[in-house]
Amino acid sequence: MFRIGANRLRGAAAATAAGAGGRRAFGTGRVLSTGRAAAAAAATAAACGLGYLYVTDASAGVHRYVAGPVLRLLDPEDAHDAAVWLLRHGVCPADRGADDALLETELWGRRVANPVGLAAGFDKNAVAVDALFGLGFGAVEVGSITPQPQAGNARPRLFRIDDSAAVVNRMGLNNDGAEACADRLRSRFWRLLAAQSRAQGETVAELARSTNRSGRAGRLLGVNLGKNKAAGADSFDDYVSGLQQLGAYADYVVINVSCPNVTNIAANADVAVLEQTVAAVVRARNAMPDYRPPVVLKIGPDNSADQLRLIAQLATDCAVDGIIAANTTPARPPGLADPAGVAREQGGLSGAPLRARALETTRQMYRLTGGRIPIIGCGGISSAEDALAFARAGASMVQIYTSMVYDGPGKAREIKDDLMRLLKGRRWADVVGEEARGK
Ligand SMILES: Cc1cc2nc3c(=O)[nH]c(=O)nc-3n(C[C@H](O)[C@H](O)[C@H](O)COP(=O)(O)O)c2cc1C
Repeated sequence: MFRIGANRLRGAAAATAAGAGGRRAFGTGRVLSTGRAAAAAAATAAACGLGYLYVTDASAGVHRYVAGPVLRLLDPEDAHDAAVWLLRHGVCPADRGADDALLETELWGRRVANPVGLAAGFDKNAVAVDALFGLGFGAVEVGSITPQPQAGNARPRLFRIDDSAAVVNRMGLNNDGAEACADRLRSRFWRLLAAQSRAQGETVAELARSTNRSGRAGRLLGVNLGKNKAAGADSFDDYVSGLQQLGAYADYVVINVSCPNVTNIAANADVAVLEQTVAAVVRARNAMPDYRPPVVLKIGPDNSADQLRLIAQLATDCAVDGIIAANTTPARPPGLADPAGVAREQGGLSGAPLRARALETTRQMYRLTGGRIPIIGCGGISSAEDALAFARAGASMVQIYTSMVYDGPGKAREIKDDLMRLLKGRRWADVVGEEARGK
């Protein structure tokens, strides 16, 4: 996008110069008026250029204070679809800043340039992966993706609670299905590898062994796996099938057992079923021939202390590689500011009112697993202060979704900039789990 803008600017400047040169032969008065015209043209071109630079900068206020409120005039799902469409077609801003080394984190031996990820559910069908990385996320998680395409629940199924900076959704895992998403991710990955191979002279096969599936150094692409509506409550075949179809294109895969909007996930409440599910997916991952992505378990925010203990035990026993804490909650925390009564809608609540529960879940899981399993904190994170609280409680990385709905595409950049201020020269990685170390 930027290059097109620069070319256009160069073209305008050249045209202005040619026009000015061509008219100078007609006399002094004309030279003066031609000079004024040239100055006006140059000023216009400069203003357009600066305007272009401004609107294509993800951190520009126009996205938060103009584009966001305009999008929010639409029905919430239409606004979401419009945002994804714009991203998919490259009509989107970009994070122009660099990530400071202090923001680096590490997951599964891989360096991640910054700890702010995009949570599942925004790009369910993996159609806007590169535009989303362009917004500055250290990780982008696509999905949930089920083996077969499915339509999800009837609309309306997405609601904003503006006064609480929250969202209620009962989307019901609508997505294009594993085959379509795998095709998209496969062609994207090979296209990126081919470009890198031309630039670096390494073969595509060599690059495929060493390159992140995100296709970008220091960035991770997660693929979140769900179950089709028709699957039995105890069955785990859909997760295994999802892994087999999509695992090769993921830097990590997520078993989403915690979606509150589907009724057939016994693993959400029954720890024995959860153990069978996780064990089956880890076994299938271990049987993959060449490339084996880390397996991450996404849990809900409403588990009791006993349930969390059992989950931590099974995660350790099954050698799960990571835990995302947490998904949306079917509960409605007290004190929700909701004059329009939107919270009465059935569905999972996300955003600010979820934060306390998600943070506590992160804290408990870190303590229960002794910090040996990386935790990705998620739920109501909207600032660097929130992100740091999750890091102190044990999160190696965080994810956001709802705060981007309210504050716009510059959210990752904003959190990263503010983190630099709050870290005061310390490294993010040193803050992780600080609370449990008594700091
Ligand atoms: C509209 C919507 C759709 C979501 N879809 C999924 C999904 O398909 N799979 C999943 O694991 N989580 C899904 N989530 C949950 C988010 O990934 C995240 O866990 C939750 O929203 C809490 O983060 P937040 O408060 O920053 O939004 C969805 C959330 C929203 C708001």
